[in-house]
Amino acid sequence: MDDVERAADRIATRVAEGLPIVCFTGAGISQESGIPTFRGESGLWAERDPELVATAEALERDPEAVWRFHEELRAMCREADPNAAHMALAWMETAVAERAPAPVITQNIDGLHQAAGSSNVIELHGNAGRVRCTACEFVSEDLPERFDRLPPLCECGAILRPDVVWFGEQLPRQAMEDAQRWSRLAGVMLIVGTSATVQPAASLPVMAFRSGAVLIEVNPEATALSAVVDVSLRGPAGEVMPELVEELSSELAD
Ligand code: OAD
Repeated sequence: MDDVERAADRIATRVAEGLPIVCFTGAGISQESGIPTFRGESGLWAERDPELVATAEALERDPEAVWRFHEELRAMCREADPNAAHMALAWMETAVAERAPAPVITQNIDGLHQAAGSSNVIELHGNAGRVRCTACEFVSEDLPERFDRLPPLCECGAILRPDVVWFGEQLPRQAMEDAQRWSRLAGVMLIVGTSATVQPAASLPVMAFRSGAVLIEVNPEATALSAVVDVSLRGPAGEVMPELVEELSSELAD
């Protein structure tokens, strides 16, 4: 049995037991859609200091610089299409739906899981295509392709900000509670394209592991989690995930 077969076998066993197959994703799953990851040589944080473009303090100090960076990111997200890995996860949700839930917990802000058809997506770090007011309750997803001026302002006169989680900020409470609940219930946690270094998101696989979940990692490189996962599938998600779901599909048909 090779690693893909072993992973598919573990998933099929847990599906048969009716246990949730929880997917935990990071920037690596969208890399083949043309959105760079954060860490590593060609990562977004290699070229710029996140302290200057991805913190509430930076927004106060230099809102235009923060918004210029965010607008680049928003355009990349808007123009990207889901790749074979996003599609594979959406397919898996449908394939197991009658027997087990398969929610996706993502650290990504690009909306590509939803675009691929995943129906139960928990966004831990917000969404690049949404803004909220820094002063009032205003939230909107109905944004122009480009703002006439940066930073954009709310009707109340205050600065709008991207509705994403920046360094040093709390995660949305409901999203984190849902993510923790699924991590405790998981029969399998499929960890795709994340360095699993950013807290508190990185605590979720540990929580799943402690609750008895089988951990399967899909990543071309070893990560902090590689030592504890049951199966490591080394390769780009866009290649590995279709192989995995194809194998799973024959397992489920048996
Ligand atoms: P990272 O940039 O830290 O890690 C990306 C991971 O994806 C690495 O482990 C790569 O080896 C892997 N990778 C690269 N290409 C891949 C591919 N084609 N298929 C599969 N894996 C691939 O990104 P995250 O773990 O998502 O937070 O980072 C977590 C958080 O840190 C982000 O949500 C963001 C960032 O700062 C905020 O902005 C709050």
